[in-house]
Amino acid sequence: MSETRIQILNKGPIIVAGHVDVVDDEGKAVRQHDPMAICRCGQSGNMPFCDGISKGNMKVCKRAESIL
Ligand code: FES
Repeated sequence: MSETRIQILNKGPIIVAGHVDVVDDEGKAVRQHDPMAICRCGQSGNMPFCDGISKGNMKVCKRAESIL
């Protein structure tokens, strides 16, 4: 059984490693990679993936809270 890991970078994208199915709003598969970086700044030219345009300089970005 493989594991999937989701890492929320501070002022950066969400890194997803492991198997996941990424689909659009109609349920159609989106081409993906493993690992992949999901954009959360809204500025990527390759949505839903990060293209590095924010380069860690997001103006508004909540940091993920650790549970440990
Ligand atoms: S988080 Fe990288 S382009 Fe949006």
